[in-house]
Amino acid sequence: MYYPEEVVEEVRMKNDIVDVVSGYVHLQKKGSNHFGLCPFHNEKSPSFSVSGSKQMFYCFGCGIGGNVFTFVMEYENYSFTEAVKLLADRAGVSLPETGYSQEEKKKESRKTQLLEVNKEAAKYFYYCLRSPQGETGSQYLQKRQLNEETMKRFGLGFAPVSGNQLIKYLRSKGYRDDLIQEAGLAGFDERYGLYDKFWNRVMFPIQDINHRVIGFGGRVMGEAKPKYLNSPESLIFDKGRNLYGLNFARSSRQNNFILCEGYMDVIALHQAGFPQALASLGTAFTPGQAGLLKRYETEVLLAYDGDGAGMKAALRAISILREAGIGCKVIDMSPYKDPDEFISHQGAEVFRQRMAEAEGSFFFELRMMEKEHDFKDPESKTDFHKRLAGKLCDFEEEVERENYLQAVAEKYHISPESLRKLVISQAARSGIGPAVRPKSGMADKKRTPEENKRRNQRLLFTWMTDEPEAFPIIAKYISPEDFTDELYRQVAVRVFEKMKAGGIHHADLVSMFSEGEEHKEVAALMNERLEALDTVQEKEKALHDIILAVKNESFAYYSERMGENPQAFQQVVKVKKELEELSKTHISLYQG
Ligand code: GTP
Ligand code: MN
Repeated sequence: MYYPEEVVEEVRMKNDIVDVVSGYVHLQKKGSNHFGLCPFHNEKSPSFSVSGSKQMFYCFGCGIGGNVFTFVMEYENYSFTEAVKLLADRAGVSLPETGYSQEEKKKESRKTQLLEVNKEAAKYFYYCLRSPQGETGSQYLQKRQLNEETMKRFGLGFAPVSGNQLIKYLRSKGYRDDLIQEAGLAGFDERYGLYDKFWNRVMFPIQDINHRVIGFGGRVMGEAKPKYLNSPESLIFDKGRNLYGLNFARSSRQNNFILCEGYMDVIALHQAGFPQALASLGTAFTPGQAGLLKRYETEVLLAYDGDGAGMKAALRAISILREAGIGCKVIDMSPYKDPDEFISHQGAEVFRQRMAEAEGSFFFELRMMEKEHDFKDPESKTDFHKRLAGKLCDFEEEVERENYLQAVAEKYHISPESLRKLVISQAARSGIGPAVRPKSGMADKKRTPEENKRRNQRLLFTWMTDEPEAFPIIAKYISPEDFTDELYRQVAVRVFEKMKAGGIHHADLVSMFSEGEEHKEVAALMNERLEALDTVQEKEKALHDIILAVKNESFAYYSERMGENPQAFQQVVKVKKELEELSKTHISLYQG
């Protein structure tokens, strides 16, 4: 945390969360909460709630939550410090200058400088495209059927033919050589010194989700190699964690993303009325990018090149998306090479039709697998059936697996019975599979013991903060040391402190932590749903059970560490006594 706690608290207090969120999301009051459509995932009925009394938000659909800082961090992709700044500005609170640590300050300001020099370069390229020396670039882009509005929207530009013009321009604006080089805008040569990295290319600025220029792609206008030259990675440019077009796609509110391979594809689709198009950045699709898409809970349609390399890349993307839990389909581009060509020959409506007919990723994978087998050869055909059965094992849900099994059996003319047998034998071979998996439903989704432990501790937090009459009882048996997760323990120390002093403000608890991930965790801590318990007896039993569970886990935790840590021994003796007492006690919530 870089700003003093009091300042952060002041900023938070002066920014009512309902007010702030209303600026981004249409909210409606229902009971004591406000509800709206979650901006972090796609949904049709509102499960995004904002509580004025708690000064917190929480989405029951995707589990995201936090206080007003978390909201700004998530929505704007800001760091905690940036969110504090924005909200301080909004409320007219002036922040002290000395917020940062020295190290942090240096890095942040270097990032700011890099963003600045990129912005300046983008402006320069943009200007060149529209000047006489940008004539060839301008003609090239027109030939590719881009209109002025599109070029403006994507900030397209032109890097002039020669003379290190960009470097000269940037120097004249006061930028230093080392910065220009670090941004990847210039290279360095022993003999000639600094030289423009991009020349005689049309320029595609690459923007992050806040429309800040983090790098460039430059395309030659003819057949020279390399076709595209991309900025190298830098402090601000992480190719695996950004997507071209996401700044527009994320707020397009379509029920899918169209993932393409090229910048031109994104731009052409956008111009044709598909603002949900995006592409990776000159490298293959990465798990980091899947992570970015995951939070929107939207289906992904792959619009990859129709050739062999494209199909291979699509298979890799499918498995990365599946790993991240994102469903996807594949759009058939034939007979054209890529979406850009498809649109220019067939137009938007035919493309929309292809989107509707997109093939489920599972069937796409099978079709690709088919090509590796010769069905006239019995051995190869059997092998195909085995692989097919192996793939069916990947479906954890019995109903889903059975549905796919039926469909596949029909498609490949195999009897469902023998395919089912094959699935079972394949599952047995790999040691996992249908036989040992839980039957169905989210409810029996297996939690690891570690997850269970954390969930119990979260439940206890919710009891402490939401049921004030439970706190004194809990405090009799539980202390912060009983929380075995480091972050939870830190939160517990604060909660105990504040509850003893008269109560807690959920939202302040969140801002005691500065990382986005921590915000989410802390918010989740206090939003674990308590089951609806009707009677006082049920409530008392539930509270007793949860205290006992956390206590037992704490006992196990410290027992394991007794050998190495004398304090653990102390703790074990203490916990054991409390456990004995607890087992004899009936908890009563309403004594008065
Ligand atoms: P156009 O030919 O202009 O339509 O581009 P395209 O997007 O159709 O190109 P292609 O399908 O060949 O490449 C897809 C993406 O791969 C591009 O948008 C670039 O991000 C990247 N790429 C293509 N060629 C190169 C290259 O030579 N070097 C690098 N680093 N990346 C490339
Ligand atoms: Mn193309």
